[in-house]
Amino acid sequence: MNALSMQFLSHLGSDTSHSESSPVGVDTKNNYQTVTVLVIGGGGREHALCYALQRSPSCETVLCAPGNAGISSSKNATCISDLDIYDGEAVISFCRKRGVGLVVVGPEAPLVAGLTNELVKAGIPTFGPSAEASALEGSKNFMKHLCDKYDIPTAKYKTFTDPSAAKQYIQEQGAPIVIKADGLAAGKGVTVAMTLEEAHEAVDSMLVKGDFGSAGCRVIVEEFLEGEEASFFALVDGENAIPLESAQDHKRVGDGDTGPNTGGMGAYSPAPILTKELQSIVMDSIIIPTVKGMSAEGSKFVGVLYAGLMIEKKSGMPKLIEYNVRFGDPECQVLMVRLESDLVQVLLAACRGELNGISLNWSPGSAMVVVMASNGYPGSYEKGTLIENLEEAELVAPGVKIFHAGTAFDSEGRFIATGGRVLGITAKGNDLEEARDRAYQAVEKVNWSGGFFRRDIGWRALPQKQYATKG
Ligand code: AMP
Ligand code: GLY
Repeated sequence: MNALSMQFLSHLGSDTSHSESSPVGVDTKNNYQTVTVLVIGGGGREHALCYALQRSPSCETVLCAPGNAGISSSKNATCISDLDIYDGEAVISFCRKRGVGLVVVGPEAPLVAGLTNELVKAGIPTFGPSAEASALEGSKNFMKHLCDKYDIPTAKYKTFTDPSAAKQYIQEQGAPIVIKADGLAAGKGVTVAMTLEEAHEAVDSMLVKGDFGSAGCRVIVEEFLEGEEASFFALVDGENAIPLESAQDHKRVGDGDTGPNTGGMGAYSPAPILTKELQSIVMDSIIIPTVKGMSAEGSKFVGVLYAGLMIEKKSGMPKLIEYNVRFGDPECQVLMVRLESDLVQVLLAACRGELNGISLNWSPGSAMVVVMASNGYPGSYEKGTLIENLEEAELVAPGVKIFHAGTAFDSEGRFIATGGRVLGITAKGNDLEEARDRAYQAVEKVNWSGGFFRRDIGWRALPQKQYATKG
């Protein structure tokens, strides 16, 4: 048992009193209490969370709802495919029946819908913010107001509901300029307009045509920031925050960071752009003021804060572009294969407001994930294409782990693709080059004519050798 497990043993089971089944078991060999964990979601991020939770010494069992075919066949969790994760009552009653002692909510949609509020009210420790705290991701206007009030560095902006007023402001500011829908728009609500005409079109699409529904009823017109983007992750317990190791994704679909935006085509950790010095500036100027600000506003944030940053070219200083209130996907995959601390204990500590003083242990090398996606993604793509050779691919080199984001079984029990992003081929190595070589060796073994992948994941961190050799 590591120090972290011991530190929190005394708290286990202290605040849970469900009648049907106890949320803690006892590991008789090691003589400490173990926890049944329920992970909400069914993508690659949730597979990685299940994998790390299952490795925790204090984990009894991992359940995942709904999960997917790959999660269940990997045996990293037992999938509960028929639990409706948007029905709070159903989730509460399931937790009580199965003695769940910790719920970890992966995606933003159930968070914004208030699943955590219901679970916490029912006395079930839940890692993930309340609906009110999820507004940091759910409303850009809310996030920008918070930045104003608590002096958090971000791009200058104004919010509009009237298209003519928005266009007049755009005219005054000039291009390039950035137009954003206020609400959740499936990653499509941001236009970086290089011309005034483009900016006006974006305003019309949101405020006049209603292309984004209620998410686009309010628009934020924002100063264009020039620099290099970076992601930053912190675990938050309502009052305290601890940084996670650095990780960076590649959002564009094509090699050389070209083509349309996606949810992320690959990621690596650590990310050299986030130096220790920069990390401490981000904690002090952005993360801590946000956490304190949310608490002062009466919406304590418990969960992962994922900050999208622009490291400004002129000053070298970070500015906040956006917040997500969950782990990044696929950044979570590289973080979870590197995490060595007992994740169950860490997340329970966050739920209890006891993260202060905790430091996390990470494997010293590097990790990379290469996403394999269905041909056509992020546009329309065919579903149901056959994927073979996954077992062989996982064994091709040491340190390889395949996370499933969108797979199902066909009638013969073979894997088929059911989503846009389908597999996260992840590998650890002594350095990024080794992790990269192993991940691509595994990618090459996968037999899937319906899928594609980027060949240059990590190129910014590996400038001397940009592309994988085979193709
Ligand atoms: P968001 O959904 O807010 O992360 O925005 C999507 C992408 O738009 C970001 O990853 C950036 O590449 C770009 N972006 C957003 N805001 C700005 C800004 N103020 N200046 C320059 N680029 C931006
Ligand atoms: N990888 C980007 C995201 O999770 O939003």
